[in-house]
Amino acid sequence: MIRLGARRLLKVSARTGFSFRFASTSFTNDKNLNAIYTKVDELEPKFIQRIKDAVKIPSVSSELERRPELFRMAEWLQKEAKGLDINLTAHDPGFQSPGVKLPPILVGNYPSVPLPEKKTILVYGHYDVQPANIEDGGWEADPFTVVEKPDGRLVARGITDDKGPVMGWLNAIEAYQAAGVELPVNVIFCIEGMEENGSEGLDEFIASEKAHELFKDVDAICISDNYWLGTKKPVLTYGLRGCSYYAITVEGPNTDLHSGVFGGTVCEPMTDLTQLLASLVKPAKDAYKIQVPGVAEMVAPVTDAERRVYEPIDYNLTDLADSLGGRDCSLHATKADTLMARWRMPALSIHGIEGAFAQPGAKTVIPAKVTAKISIRTVPNIAPSRLNELVTEYVHNQFGQLGTKSSVKVDVVHEGNWWVSDPNNWSFEAAKQATRAVWGVDPDLTREGGSIPVTLTFEKELQKPVLLLPMGRGDDGAHSTMEKLDKQNYIQGTKTLASYLYFAAKAKTDTN
Ligand code: BES
Ligand code: MN
Ligand code: MN
Repeated sequence: MIRLGARRLLKVSARTGFSFRFASTSFTNDKNLNAIYTKVDELEPKFIQRIKDAVKIPSVSSELERRPELFRMAEWLQKEAKGLDINLTAHDPGFQSPGVKLPPILVGNYPSVPLPEKKTILVYGHYDVQPANIEDGGWEADPFTVVEKPDGRLVARGITDDKGPVMGWLNAIEAYQAAGVELPVNVIFCIEGMEENGSEGLDEFIASEKAHELFKDVDAICISDNYWLGTKKPVLTYGLRGCSYYAITVEGPNTDLHSGVFGGTVCEPMTDLTQLLASLVKPAKDAYKIQVPGVAEMVAPVTDAERRVYEPIDYNLTDLADSLGGRDCSLHATKADTLMARWRMPALSIHGIEGAFAQPGAKTVIPAKVTAKISIRTVPNIAPSRLNELVTEYVHNQFGQLGTKSSVKVDVVHEGNWWVSDPNNWSFEAAKQATRAVWGVDPDLTREGGSIPVTLTFEKELQKPVLLLPMGRGDDGAHSTMEKLDKQNYIQGTKTLASYLYFAAKAKTDTN
């Protein structure tokens, strides 16, 4: 039974001038937690400034020319954490390619000398973000400057993915300090800068002896790098799809050609590539079923017990339509089929073609070399290495049937494994209590379609439970234009993270 704690009225952001009030409600009567919540509310202006400063650095991991920004971001984080007595050490994962350094993996204990009688929670997040340019359209202002909307949205690249949650952990520590409540657990931070690029270097680091020593006392891993399913109900997440990313290159002549002079007389790489791409999946009416033989056979069958999981989930097809800007582009007719397609079925997407003519205007060119970027979201029990073999073999077979003199090659750009766990272990129970204390409801238990490659690595290497505890809402638009995080989610999310640490300390691990 949850009892209503102190109800306080707060003025929202005096600085920006809009003046609606919302009730900041607590659903616990635990004195320590309420003291922490009060401090989070009081510190809101400082926390908003913190996220503004964090998004200001365009730490895009996939653009080589922005690599220095990743190093700046890591330094900024170290400095910000230092202000809270959190010492983050920069670990160098080596090189991405000759001359291109990978950004540091930041690891640090709080308190710096862990107390052996307390549990230890490893907190993971990433400080890199997806690309964004105002010229892409969609953005109302510079994507790396927070725009505060009157409805409470904070708009900026990376604000929900994943800088808001990373700041949330710092905010949570600061609130404990300000409230004079001793942190009941040891926290180890692990914050990387290559997540959006397949977490290059991280698996090796976690498997290294150095990391095994750093992480030897960890009791649970908590990752805040996902979202609610919808916009109103908090969730806890116990599954993710994996992501295997491929580059398929087709090459013909060794220079671009005039299509008037050469069209009709030579093999055209772009034409060969599009025919190849068309053979990867069935048409929309067959829900883009993957055509690569052997893939469907690896997918775990749906059990009756699993079928019952979908109905009670707070989600419907209008949520999907909403996130598509009101256009109906759905592939499936029911909620259960839609959730299954997102959570537990593989999907192949075609992202782009490098080398293709993509500028405005009409250029009569035959591109000499084109590279398609495709990815497959993987699910139990797809083995990524087997998938690579199947995809490569299928591409070569299909290409062979075209009878072209162009050449084809398949490169695996990165692969991240899928992850499914038990949503009833002690760590999830602590997160359920935290959710009830802050939001007053039981969270839905969800899986997700996105990927966080390190999740399974942590579980395997440390043999400890992993929990995904989101901050943002389902309509935050991670990776899209106008990515946002609602101020309410940032502030209440900070409280949720703080509360998770509190309840994790009290939880009995032997119920695991
Ligand atoms: N935060 C996302 C993962 C995510 C997305 C979780 C949607 C839940 C729902 C993460 O930053 C991400 O974007 N991951 C990449 C990984 C890929 C590059 C291997 C992804 O899913 O595309
Ligand atoms: Mn993320
Ligand atoms: Mn992301």
